[in-house]
Formats: sequence, C-alpha cells, structure tokens
Amino acid sequence: MRFRFPLYSSSPSSSLFSNLSFISSSCFSTFLSMAPAFETVSAPQQEGETETVTSYSTGNDGQGVGFKSKVTVVGSGNWGSVAAKLIASNTLKLNSFHDEVRMWVFEETLQTGEKLTDVINKTNENVKYLPGIRLGKNVVADPDLDNAVKDANMLVFVTPHQFMEGICKRLVGKVRGDVEAISLIKGMEVKMEGPCMISNLISEQLGINCSVLMGANIANEIAVEKFSEATVGYRHNREIAEQWVKLFGTPYFMVTPVQDVEGVELCGTLKNIVAIAAGFVDGLDMGNNTKAAIMRIGLREMKAFSKLLFSSVRDSTFFESCGVADVITTCLGGRNRKVAEAFARNGGKRSFDELEAEMLQGQKLQGVSTAREVYEVLSHRGWLELFPLFSTVHEICIGHLPPSAIVEYSEKKPKLSLLEDSTRYI
Ligand SMILES: NC(=O)c1ccc[n+]([C@@H]2O[C@H](COP(=O)([O-])OP(=O)(O)OC[C@H]3O[C@@H](n4cnc5c(N)ncnc54)[C@H](O)[C@@H]3O)[C@@H](O)[C@H]2O)c1
Repeated sequence: MRFRFPLYSSSPSSSLFSNLSFISSSCFSTFLSMAPAFETVSAPQQEGETETVTSYSTGNDGQGVGFKSKVTVVGSGNWGSVAAKLIASNTLKLNSFHDEVRMWVFEETLQTGEKLTDVINKTNENVKYLPGIRLGKNVVADPDLDNAVKDANMLVFVTPHQFMEGICKRLVGKVRGDVEAISLIKGMEVKMEGPCMISNLISEQLGINCSVLMGANIANEIAVEKFSEATVGYRHNREIAEQWVKLFGTPYFMVTPVQDVEGVELCGTLKNIVAIAAGFVDGLDMGNNTKAAIMRIGLREMKAFSKLLFSSVRDSTFFESCGVADVITTCLGGRNRKVAEAFARNGGKRSFDELEAEMLQGQKLQGVSTAREVYEVLSHRGWLELFPLFSTVHEICIGHLPPSAIVEYSEKKPKLSLLEDSTRYI
C-alpha cells in the first residue's frame, strides 16, 4: 500500500539528520536482524585495506561436492527474457548449475488467442516482449509462481517494480530456506516509514539475502550480444557475488562485483529520472550541450541523494557501469527518454500513461513513478531545494510546469546551506 507523506512544514535543516537515522532504523534494519550462519574472515582489499568477508553457504559450495544450483527468473518482460537467455547460456556450460532455467511468466492471452507461456515453450521465443530472439532450449516458461520458485536456490527478480510488493506477498513461505536472491529491478517503494529499495522489500518480506545487478543495459542490445558491462552490488559475502558474476557473465556481458548494494541499486533507480529530463531536452530540440549538462546535474543529484539516504554509499560506485555508464545509455537510448521526448513534443498535453500505452506495447516506464516517489521523499524531508532537477522532472510530469522548465529550474544552485557538511554529498 502506498502512503503519501504530508508536505514538510518546519525548517528542513533542523531535522535533516534525525530523519536519516529514522530511515536506517526502519525498512533497512530488517536485513540486519536476519541471522544466517555466518563465518567471518578477513580478506585483502584494494589499496591495502582489509574488508570483512563473510563466508556463508550459498546452497552450492556448502552442500557438498556435486550439488547443483537451480535458478528461477521471476519476470519475463524485455529485460527478464534477456536475463533468462544470458543465464541459460551459462547453466548449460557450468557444472555447478542445473541446465534448466525456470522463468515465471505473468500469463497473458495473445491476439492469436494463445497463452504467452505456451508460445514461449513451443517456439523458445518471448514473442511479445523479446521477439526474434531464441531464449535457449533450457528455458522453461511457467505461469505458476509457486511452482516456478519452489525448487530454486537462486532467484532472479526482474519485473517492473510496482508489481513486486504483490509478488513478494504471494511468495511468503514458498521459497527454500537456503535461497539467495538478486534483483535486476529499478525503482523504489515509498512507505510510511520511509523509502524502501526493492532488494530490501525482497529481503524483508521473504527473509532472504538479496544482491542487485544494475548497469548500462538496454535489453535489446544485450539480446543481440553486443558488448556491455554490468555491476553486481552485494552486501556481505563476496562468494555469493561471485556466484552471480558466474551466472550472468559472458564474453559480451562483463560483470563486476561491488560491495555497495544501496549505491548500485540507487544508481539504477535514479538514473531513470535523469533519462526523463534528457527526453524533455530532446523533445525541445535543445542539442547535445544541454543534454550533457542535464546528465551531469542529474548524476550529481543521484550521488547526493544516495549519500544522504545511506552514508555507506561509495563514491567509486558512480564510476561503475551502474553509475555514469547507465546514465549515458538511458539518456541516449532508453524507453524513458523516448516517451519523455514525445511528451515534450506534444507540449505536455498528452499524459505519460497515454503515451506509454501507445508507444511501449505493454512495457512499463519507470522514470515517472520513480520521480514521484523521490519527490515524496524530498518533500517529506525538506530536501526539495537541494534537488532542483529531480523536483522539476516530477513537476513537469504532473503538469505543474511546462517541459521547457527543465532548463529553467534544473540548473538552479542547490541550497547546500541546508546541509551541515555539503561537501560530503555533492
Ligand atoms: N528493458 C530494459 O532494457 C531494462 C534494462 C535494465 C533493467 N530493466 C528493469 O527490469 C525490470 C523489468 O523490466 P522488463 O523490461 O523486463 O519488463 P517490461 O516492461 O518489458 O514488461 C512488463 C512485464 O510486466 C509484466 N506484468 C504486467 N502486469 C503484471 C502484473 N500485474 N504482475 C506482474 N507482472 C506483470 C508483463 O507480463 C511483462 O513481463 C524493470 O525494473 C526495469 O526497469 C529493464
């Protein structure tokens, strides 16, 4: 259930930092209270530091020689289908995985009257969301969510974020105790207690560890095996991160692990707002310099917002594929940019819902809802003046400002005096 925060009325600076502890003690604390059997060792890190690495049974290394991991992909849209293809190519090659990859399909009846699941299993192609691409014979589409997950010890979540709360509710008590999860989902839920990232929603509701995979990954390009990179964000355990790298990595899809779940996930989520701004710029025919300026301002706001929410977020994460590279690719080519361009060309007179339905054939936009969710957080915490680009994007999306406002307001200097130590965030 969604909760709308009341607008903040008192001085923002006074409660800025007390609000931060409020965030971290709410949704995000649940993970810490989960207690799998950890064994702690020290491992060398970059620049001569040591980090604590927690050795933990992933369900394969801890279960004896010959144990094979079973993978299920929860979701079968454009990116979900490409993820299944990548994974399926690896499970066939690697002995530590069962060949078969289950893919849960939100069942739909196609115009031909056939069920999407039946067509995928017959043709080995997701004709609606990834036409023309063979998924691999070892991908089995399954419309029954409980059945799809019941044997898996590695779960890959990849649906539009607005469906995840419902999916998690359905999965409570249905997944294996030793399961590891990864989320490829971009977006966040805003709850009464504060913003909640999707990986945390999964961890909280299902009581399982959840890593994330984000990056400069336009699905259709990876589907045809053009070279690209991605970032796995992990929490404690490097071995688990390496399992995910093994499962996804191919010579044309290079995956790097980073111990910064929140940083990686927030990059993937927030860049969709920047892509909407870039689409407005394109729709107004403003040219490359303006777009580059919007991308830079957007990246700065992504970093500031992430670090305000989580002091653990690393600066270096913004230089990984999930950071600057994803901002570039979505501002040049993604669906958020494309629909925002059409919105601006129509002078803001046709709604995003209408344009999404017309232009995306069932695929979902994330940037508009993420802009709204971030705006709720900014209003509630008194941070609106710190994030002129994020705020302006939302106000344009809901029709309070014209598309041209993107260059009138976004470059306003953020009021850094609201922060105690502004240099930490910007
Ligand atoms: N497509 C990309 O290029 C890309 C790249 C990286 C990340 N992502 C992220 O991956 C996630 C999934 O996107 P996608 O591109 O695979 O999906 P999509 O937008 O292509 O497809 C929408 C999916 O939602 C399903 N659906 C519709 N109604 C539903 C319901 N009520 N409950 C559950 N599912 C329902 C549809 O069956 C379909 O599988 C998103 O968070 C997206 O931001 C997408």
